[in-house]
Amino acid sequence: MPRLSGKTALVTGAARGIGAAIARAFAAEAAQVIVTDIDMPLGQAIAAEIGGTFARLDVASEADWSDIADRFPGVDVVVNNAGITGFEGPSDAIPPAHDPEHATLADWRAVHRVNLDGTFLGCRYAIRAMRGRGAGSIINISSRSGLVGIPMAAAYASSKAAIRNHTKTVALYCAAQGLNIRCNSIHPAAVMTPMWEPMLGHGPDRADREAAMVADTPMRRFGRPEEVAALAVLLASDEAAYMTGAELTIDGGILAGSAAAPGS
Ligand SMILES: NC(=O)c1ccc[n+]([C@@H]2O[C@H](COP(=O)([O-])OP(=O)(O)OC[C@H]3O[C@@H](n4cnc5c(N)ncnc54)[C@H](O)[C@@H]3O)[C@@H](O)[C@H]2O)c1
Repeated sequence: MPRLSGKTALVTGAARGIGAAIARAFAAEAAQVIVTDIDMPLGQAIAAEIGGTFARLDVASEADWSDIADRFPGVDVVVNNAGITGFEGPSDAIPPAHDPEHATLADWRAVHRVNLDGTFLGCRYAIRAMRGRGAGSIINISSRSGLVGIPMAAAYASSKAAIRNHTKTVALYCAAQGLNIRCNSIHPAAVMTPMWEPMLGHGPDRADREAAMVADTPMRRFGRPEEVAALAVLLASDEAAYMTGAELTIDGGILAGSAAAPGS
């Protein structure tokens, strides 16, 4: 028996990376999937591949969410996955400073607009689209960076921490309303997706950079998008009926210890 049959799921940022993997995994479990993204060609290709529907959606745009609400007034699952680091751009460009001393206000706001405003608007849409059904599952993709400080990615870490907290607020709000709408967050560490390209580059030292990025990960490897998608399937399914307000880490063990742990 497929785990999501009869459910309609909307996934943001689903044109590639973790979002595309979630869309594929949901479809494999017989969900009707609404693939959304600002990247129309890639998003349309994923939708065609899995027999889903594509809709253009900039998660930071209230007007876009309003169009989505008109087009899809009822859904069972919403995954707020779209996110940016602030380091997007050509891999040979010098990345902007994102530390707390040098980050610009414009760069700080740009990251929060997509990651945090996008998740707020996505949760608001989800509650309204699930209220009539009395049930649903909202899944917010936060990050390991939402649980610890990240000196060189201040806005990203701040936005992801706020997503973690807003998830719990939404969970409590829905429960208090007597709605069976669950809201949980997933906290991946390094997962190999196109998001990493600007940070890994294409030079001869790419393999060394990859190894360095996961040197402090107990499992010594990047995660795979499919591994995050498996967690999203669980949270979307009725198997997770008693889970709300939870934060699930998927990080190769990195948050299980600390560099200062005895014997490390
Ligand atoms: N890859 C990782 O290591 C990692 C780790 C922790 C958390 N995450 C989070 O997982 C999520 C997905 O990351 P990924 O690695 O797949 O990234 P990615 O860059 O590969 O894909 C992100 C997708 O979001 C879309 N997008 C960007 N801005 C958007 C907007 N304003 N509206 C709608 N769509 C938009 C992009 O077009 C792209 O398809 C993000 O929230 C990210 O912060 C990723």
